[in-house]
Amino acid sequence: MTIHIRQEKNEDIDIIYNLVKKSFENAEHSDGTEQDLVNRLRKSKSFIPELSLVATDGNSIIGHILFTKILIENNNKKTESLALAPLAVLPEYQNKGVGSKLVKEGLKIAKELGYKSVIVLGSEKYYPRFGFIKAKNFEIIPPFEVPSENFMAIELEKDSLKNVSGTVIYSKEFFEN
Ligand SMILES: CC(C)(COP(=O)(O)OP(=O)(O)OC[C@H]1O[C@@H](n2cnc3c(N)ncnc32)[C@H](O)[C@@H]1OP(=O)(O)O)[C@@H](O)C(=O)NCCC(=O)NCCS
Repeated sequence: MTIHIRQEKNEDIDIIYNLVKKSFENAEHSDGTEQDLVNRLRKSKSFIPELSLVATDGNSIIGHILFTKILIENNNKKTESLALAPLAVLPEYQNKGVGSKLVKEGLKIAKELGYKSVIVLGSEKYYPRFGFIKAKNFEIIPPFEVPSENFMAIELEKDSLKNVSGTVIYSKEFFEN
């Protein structure tokens, strides 16, 4: 298996939809609509084409990751950041390093594009391996109730979150269904 990561193409959209649906079918924290979230975000202002990435094995698409624009807001001061969501790997390809490759490549591209940080809501057993720490450590809080260990942030540039505290503002597409 040789995994490659590349930007999604128009013709991948239906494949990605089905992939995300299938990947989340047995996931612990899933509402079963992550595939619709991807489609909504793709049409939103928060979408960054270079940061909707697929993992391929030969001609097959086996994983997908999406980073979209968010804001961290504190007393009218708004700082741009990114949300990593969702990340999906087909069940038969899980635990083979595909998700890790998507996260690492995504963080690298985000940094190259000039983004300074990324926020993720996810497993505290998974994301710290890429350098994510509790967002609470930066005094960055979610706009909803969630265990603090699941709400994480990473600086793409040293100290980029040092003076950025506040509440994460997700694009409205996150809350529609
Ligand atoms: C979570 C997911 C993206 C990880 O991708 P992957 O390619 O399977 O993971 P990798 O091969 O890169 O990494 C494997 C490691 O992740 C861990 N892992 C896999 N799924 C996990 C999950 N849902 N929660 C926590 N850890 C998980 C494995 O235990 C393994 O840990 P180890 O390296 O300590 O042995 C993938 O399993 C998936 O699509 N799951 C269903 C959808 C989902 O839950 N997405 C939410 C992400 S927050």
